Amino acid sequence: MDKILVRGGHALKGKIPISGAKNSALTLLPCALLTDEPLTLRNLPRLADIDGFQHLLNQFGISTMIAGSRPEDFGRVMTLSATRLTSSVAPYELVRKMRASILVLGPMLARAGEATVSLPGGCAIGNRPIDLHLKALEAIGAEIEMTAGYVKAVAPKGRLTGGSYTFPVVSVGATENVVMAAVLANGTSDIKNAAREPEIVDLCNLLVAMGASIDGIGTSDLIIHGKDRLHGATYRVMSDRIEAGSYACAAAITGGDVELVGAKMSEMDATVKALRTAGVIVESTADGIRVTANGTLQALTLETAPYPGFATDMQAQFMAMLCMAEGASVLTETIFENRYMHVSELNRMGADVETKGRTAIVRGVEKLTGAPVMATDLRASMSLVIAGLVAEGETEVSRLYHLDRGYERLEEKLQLVGANIERVSAD
Ligand code: EPZ
Repeated sequence: MDKILVRGGHALKGKIPISGAKNSALTLLPCALLTDEPLTLRNLPRLADIDGFQHLLNQFGISTMIAGSRPEDFGRVMTLSATRLTSSVAPYELVRKMRASILVLGPMLARAGEATVSLPGGCAIGNRPIDLHLKALEAIGAEIEMTAGYVKAVAPKGRLTGGSYTFPVVSVGATENVVMAAVLANGTSDIKNAAREPEIVDLCNLLVAMGASIDGIGTSDLIIHGKDRLHGATYRVMSDRIEAGSYACAAAITGGDVELVGAKMSEMDATVKALRTAGVIVESTADGIRVTANGTLQALTLETAPYPGFATDMQAQFMAMLCMAEGASVLTETIFENRYMHVSELNRMGADVETKGRTAIVRGVEKLTGAPVMATDLRASMSLVIAGLVAEGETEVSRLYHLDRGYERLEEKLQLVGANIERVSAD
């Protein structure tokens, strides 16, 4: 099992290339199911979750070809061809390893008229039910049954009808599933209180490039006019706003000056606003975003919310940064019920964080001290690396499989800007 060793005390300076967005790629990949023509995705991040999804799609008989990338390149080009499907079942042994597998449900149902997907189960940050995915699909004509840990969805007469659904709460994945199902329905679908994350816009833009008809892209009211078929396309995955925000926190906590190449300010309003309120200088550049800090950080009051609110996926990274702020910060996690597992590990490094239910009080400290720490989930892992970049001494982060799910070649990117960080094999 690999570990990452970080030795703090270096202000990060230079340029970090931002990869394609994991949370966009994971919903663009299943779109290959929606056509029998080739779909080529560019700027795909080289991540464990992408490899896992590719393997799942192969199970359905989809061929996937990686092209045009040398080992030293960031990102990959993948061409997917779902000419003929050999299965419409997503098995437990694959789904349990990657809960985003649930995103094949909608497109498979639209393409094959039926889909059987293992229930994804919960994960470290919460039990993460899929009831909203199922209700939305039923609203556009699916018949759903649950048997032996699997969801079986069928489109009566082989094709979904379209329909209307208003989400009671915003759900990114459920919005993605119902949109991917609706584009081939025999009618129009009106989805209200839909998620507005940039990754949803990226999905809608790809579907339109494939011939879909969607009104209201970027708003919470999506109207999808179903088509008989979609065609192939070549599409570039958007840059990862969460990866960019994570490295912005790393630059801020070390008093650094880093350009995040490929990042888009327009997709990161809440993150940029929070950084600026903390006293960090954030500027647009020709190639991305420049983040400059002078070593002193102001405390913040932050509450996570669906886009365009402050992203839950940025909460752990900001908490690490705010451990070094002047004063007490108040963070409230409104999206997931258990997204504070990084707190105990940060406190072992000398942080002063106290949680009360959904709220965390982060009191700034003079210094953090390196320690052996354990990653528990993707963003928590990144918060420990961020803390390690400023801690005195060495921080050893284990259970790197969490990090490798969402950060492409993390240590290489941080080495580019002067961090003293390396990946070592534990054995
Ligand atoms: C997506 O997860 C992201 N994952 C998450 O990123 C992100 O934290 C989350 O959206 C919120 O922005 C991917 O895109 C692959 P939700 P998703 O459905 O779709 C509840 C990361 O670190 N809910 O918007 O699963 C749910 O329990 C990951 O990159 C239901 O109750 O999130 C949660 O409390 C972590 N029923 C809230 O809604 C449902 O059917 C928001 O979940 C679905 C969700």
